[in-house]
Amino acid sequence: MLNVVIFGAPGSGKGTQSDLIVKKYGLVHLSTGDLLRAEIEKGTKTGKLANELISKGSFVPDDVIIEILNKNIDLYPTAKGFIFDGFPRTVVQSEALDSMLKKRNIKVNVMLNIDVKTDELVKRLLIRGKTSGRSDDNLETIQKRIRIYEEKTLPVMQFYDRQGKHNRIKGDGTMDEVFAEICTAIDKTKA
Ligand code: AP5
Ligand code: MG
Repeated sequence: MLNVVIFGAPGSGKGTQSDLIVKKYGLVHLSTGDLLRAEIEKGTKTGKLANELISKGSFVPDDVIIEILNKNIDLYPTAKGFIFDGFPRTVVQSEALDSMLKKRNIKVNVMLNIDVKTDELVKRLLIRGKTSGRSDDNLETIQKRIRIYEEKTLPVMQFYDRQGKHNRIKGDGTMDEVFAEICTAIDKTKA
């Protein structure tokens, strides 16, 4: 099993790189943002809550997101491994992921931290906002998402640092350049 945490600020390229990892390594991609947007589409109770919070750039409560992820892992009993995208986003979520995986006798093998400068993040998300239809791709919400990332999500980096799993990936290059660095980091853990 190969379990990857793909980590980075809003717009750093987590989703883009996850698609490439899926193609090359055949892992299951679990993006909590995508799962929440699917709940919004379906109009569920969680979707209604998520809709309100996402458009403000705020986080969905830890217990809600942990439950969603737990359920989704069980949908893929034969998976070769998972890419966790947008999760964990808080230290509480990092601890929850560890225990969720431990119960299944698996673990996070590698954490990829895609590092991109703030002005590039804003630029990318404003461009995407022209066509994405995402309620959080506007300047005010983008800035708030980045602020919350710095406050609540950056400590997750230290969590994986302490476990020796943190790999910094230079995220300002082209998609192919970023992917090449990611492959090197993944292959190193598999070796
Ligand atoms: P989520 O959907 O996870 O959004 P995010 O973290 O803000 O990140 P994005 O999806 O916007 O960016 P990305 O890093 O995937 O980059 P992408 O590849 O798209 O979460 C949304 C919300 O849901 C949260 O704010 C929160 O409210 C809630 N939520 C989700 N998970 C949660 C959790 N665990 N706990 C609590 N709440 C949670 O790329 C961005 C753009 O850049 C694209 O247009 C892409 O084409 C372009 N691009 C990518 N790579 C490059 C490159 N190398 N060069 C140039 N352009 C590039
Ligand atoms: Mg994404």
